[in-house]
Amino acid sequence: MDIPKIGFGTHQLNSVTCREYLSHAFKCGYQHLDCAHRYMNESVIGENLESILLDSNESVKREDIFITGKLPINGLAEDKVSYFFDKSSSALRTKYLDLYLIHGPFSAKYLSDDEYYAVDKQTGLFAADESVDFRKTWAEMEKLHRRELVKHIGLSNFNKRQMEEVLEKAEIRPKVLQIEVHGYLQQKELREFCRDEKIIVEAFAPIGSPVTAAELGKKVLINDPIINEIATKHKKSASQVALRWLRQMDVIPIVSAVTKEQMAENIRIDDFKLDEDDLKAIDGLDCGMRVYYLDDVKGVRDHPQYPFEK
Ligand SMILES: NC(=O)c1ccc[n+]([C@@H]2O[C@H](COP(=O)([O-])OP(=O)(O)OC[C@H]3O[C@@H](n4cnc5c(N)ncnc54)[C@H](OP(=O)(O)O)[C@@H]3O)[C@@H](O)[C@H]2O)c1
Repeated sequence: MDIPKIGFGTHQLNSVTCREYLSHAFKCGYQHLDCAHRYMNESVIGENLESILLDSNESVKREDIFITGKLPINGLAEDKVSYFFDKSSSALRTKYLDLYLIHGPFSAKYLSDDEYYAVDKQTGLFAADESVDFRKTWAEMEKLHRRELVKHIGLSNFNKRQMEEVLEKAEIRPKVLQIEVHGYLQQKELREFCRDEKIIVEAFAPIGSPVTAAELGKKVLINDPIINEIATKHKKSASQVALRWLRQMDVIPIVSAVTKEQMAENIRIDDFKLDEDDLKAIDGLDCGMRVYYLDDVKGVRDHPQYPFEK
C-alpha cells in the first residue's frame, strides 16, 4: 500500500473518544493513523481498532489501513529497538506496522518504558544517553524491516546533518522524514534535501497546532489574515488552505482534530487548487516559527544530538 496522502494524528485519542473518533475517521476516508509509544494510548487504540476490524458493520480491513508507530527516544539503545517495537505492535494489536519511525535523534537514558524524557534524580536535568549512536539504532530498524515486521522505516525530527549521517551507513534508506512543517515553518532546505534523496516528507502540526501555539504565545497560522483571505477566495476554511498548501508541496500532512466536524473538514482538500498568487502569498509567511521544540524537561537542548536551533 502506498502511503496515504493525509494522516490522522492520534495523540489526542483517549479511552472516551477513541472508538467513536476512529470509526468516524474511517468513514471520512482517513486510512493513515499516526501513532507513537510516546502518546501513551496505543493500547486504547489497539483495543478499539480491533473491535472496528471485527465489526462487520464497519467494513474496514487491516490491509486498507496504514499504521505508523514511533520508537521513543528512551528506546534508541540497540538492545531496546525490537523491545519497543514489540510493545507497540502488541498494544496496537497488529502483527506488522506499515511505518516505524525513530521519534527523535537525541537519546534519553532508559529508566522505564514510560519515562520518555528521563530525568536525572540528582541534577533534575534531562538524563541523556550520549553513548547511543543513532546509526546503530538505524541498523536495528533495518533488522525489523528485514524480518518483515515493518513495511517501511523512517525518521522524525532529524536535521539535515543527522539525515546525512544515517544515509552514509544505511543499507535500507529511510522512506519518510516526519517533521514540523506549516506556513510559518516551511523547512525549505530540509524538504529540498528530502526531495533530492527521494525521501517522503510528512508534516506534523500541519495547521500550526493552534491551541499549543496560542498557549505558548505564538502566532496561530489559521488566524492569519492571508490564509483567511485565500480561504474566502476559494470558499474553504483556513485549515483546508493550510493542508492544501502542504499537498501542493508534496508533503503528507498528519493532522489531528478534536471534533468530528474538523475531522471531516480536514480531509476535504482535493476539490480545489491554490494558484500562483496564493502560493506566493503563503511563501511569504515563512518566519521559522517552530511550535514543538521537544524540550519538555530542562537540559534537553544541551544534548549533542539536539536537532534544532537552540
Ligand atoms: N513526530 C513528532 O515529534 C510529532 C510531534 C507533534 C505531533 N505529531 C503528530 O502530528 C499530529 C498533529 O499535530 P498537532 O495536533 O500538534 O497539530 P495540528 O494538526 O496542526 O493541530 C490540531 C489541532 O488544531 C485544531 N483543529 C483541527 N482541525 C481544525 C479545523 N478544521 N479548524 C479549526 N481548528 C482545527 C484542533 O484543536 P482545537 O479544536 O482545540 O483548536 C486540533 O487539536 C499529532 O496528533 C501527532 O500524531 C508528531
